[in-house]
Amino acid sequence: MLGTRVADALAGPHDVDHYLELLRPDWAVRRIRGEIVAVRHQNDDSVTLTLRPTGTWPGFRAGQHVEITVEVDGVRHRRSYSPSGSAHPRTRDIELTVRRHPEGVVSRHLKEHAEVGMFVGLSAPRGDDFVLPEVRPRRIVLISGGSGVTPVLSMLRTLTDEGHAGEITFLHYARSAEDLLYARDLEAIAADHPNVTLLRTFTRDGGGELEGRFGPEHLRRALPVDEDAAAFVCGPGALVEATRALWEDQGLITPLRFEHFAPPVLPDLDPDQLGTVTFAGSGVSSEADGSTLLEQAEAAGLSPVNGCRMGICLTCKCTLNAGQVRDTLSGAIGGVPGEEIRICVSAPVGDVSVDL
Ligand SMILES: Cc1cc2nc3c(=O)[nH]c(=O)nc-3n(C[C@H](O)[C@H](O)[C@H](O)COP(=O)(O)OP(=O)(O)OC[C@H]3O[C@@H](n4cnc5c(N)ncnc54)[C@H](O)[C@@H]3O)c2cc1C
Ligand code: FES
Repeated sequence: MLGTRVADALAGPHDVDHYLELLRPDWAVRRIRGEIVAVRHQNDDSVTLTLRPTGTWPGFRAGQHVEITVEVDGVRHRRSYSPSGSAHPRTRDIELTVRRHPEGVVSRHLKEHAEVGMFVGLSAPRGDDFVLPEVRPRRIVLISGGSGVTPVLSMLRTLTDEGHAGEITFLHYARSAEDLLYARDLEAIAADHPNVTLLRTFTRDGGGELEGRFGPEHLRRALPVDEDAAAFVCGPGALVEATRALWEDQGLITPLRFEHFAPPVLPDLDPDQLGTVTFAGSGVSSEADGSTLLEQAEAAGLSPVNGCRMGICLTCKCTLNAGQVRDTLSGAIGGVPGEEIRICVSAPVGDVSVDL
């Protein structure tokens, strides 16, 4: 009964979960929250959080991500993080590893302030493309760089928990051995599972199983010709793009799935293509600087609702009144008045007006 819309209406003005949160933050009937029950600093640049979710957490598929909501200086922010644990956990706890970005609002906050007993908001798991197929292929290649290790480690842990007997190659790129997240966990998994091959590359210091950058030689070591195979790559844009390009060059039939943690960086727009941006709903205008409409709105003092900030969650959608925008993921220019656009991945081209 508590979980119904009727109960929300009776509880008003807020939903039932709002009141439950005030009583006991670990109770919820519809929303999902997670209590931080452990904090581990694997290195100076990252923090690993173990979250105990409310009973409303439905579980996740290896490779999916969740959106967490945290309050920083009185403002709520949402960001996506990929659980790194097995999808068949012994407890319901979820593990997230967050790499700190020097200018990053949420990653810096979590690195510096996350502590046991703190609660964060959680979304249901998201993303159905970057997941292990239901019927597991015989050979699986997992490629990652930096914090991109999280979703593919989840896949590796899930497969080993399932007793997957096929070959799994785990190719990871880090600047140095000290930078490698989950170093001991990966070594332990490889030591316990003869079908798991760990190929590490330390791009700055060398000394791993492979040297240099991802290219044909690394691919040859990772993926002998096999029809029943699948590959996954997650990491910095350069690694993901190099992998995709090699796949295309070599015409590989093995399906490659990829995930970016940050949108690719496009060349700057020609200054002649920059105009005036009008946020019509707020009566605010500013001169375009080539950044996204979301960034420009924030720079103009507005606080549009947003989540992933890279075109995935759709929470930032708003109506384009006039003008055209460049899709910062693909570089394509388009847009017609009345169209719903994602302002986090839309940069104005010429004079633009949005209903914000
Ligand atoms: C599907 C998905 C899964 C993700 N999983 C993880 C994860 O498991 N672990 C993890 O650490 N991060 C992950 N991320 C990235 C994460 O959501 C945040 O983008 C990141 O933590 C930065 O947030 P912030 O608030 O600190 O930075 P912001 O305040 O949003 O940005 C500050 C600056 O950092 C730049 N920036 C933001 N994110 C990145 C990035 N990923 N790489 C390079 N520059 C960036 C921005 O362009 C900006 O200049 C994931 C992202 C997606 C979309
Ligand atoms: S903030 Fe997620 S799509 Fe824009």
